[in-house]
Amino acid sequence: MVERTLAIIKPDAVKKRVVGRIIQRIEDEGFEILGLKMLHLSKEDARKFYYVHQDKPFYESLTDFMSSGRVVVLLLEKDNAIKHWREVMGATDPAQAKPGTLRRQFGFSVERNAVHGSDSPQTAEFEIAFFFG
Ligand code: RTP
Ligand code: MG
Repeated sequence: MVERTLAIIKPDAVKKRVVGRIIQRIEDEGFEILGLKMLHLSKEDARKFYYVHQDKPFYESLTDFMSSGRVVVLLLEKDNAIKHWREVMGATDPAQAKPGTLRRQFGFSVERNAVHGSDSPQTAEFEIAFFFG
């Protein structure tokens, strides 16, 4: 089933100058890039985007990090895009992520883990609307 998902190249990966390599991987994996933009989230934007985590202990730190520098947001389309993109990203903690995944390759810590991906059709809908209207 053709699906859409939202990907973010997080501030740590932008600072490391691996945006090009991540986008190359996205294309090599067969995703169609339907939208792409670079922006610097405000703290308030980051809080709204990650509101599902508002009760988690890492919410403040996560939203500080996500608003600490520029990000690249991408609207991706492919068969099973949501699951496929999460497989390419790997586990949340780069130390646990499988070899060959983006988080294993470019992530630094459980928070500074290079990339984001929607985790369900419902969150994909919310996240795509958040950035692409
Ligand atoms: P994401 O939403 O960014 O794609 O990551 P995910 O689904 O793999 O992980 P999730 O549980 O949704 O957590 C969102 C982001 O919060 C940061 N985090 N920090 N300090 C911690 O224990 C912790 N746990 C999660 C990470 O940046 C994670 O990607
Ligand atoms: Mg998540």
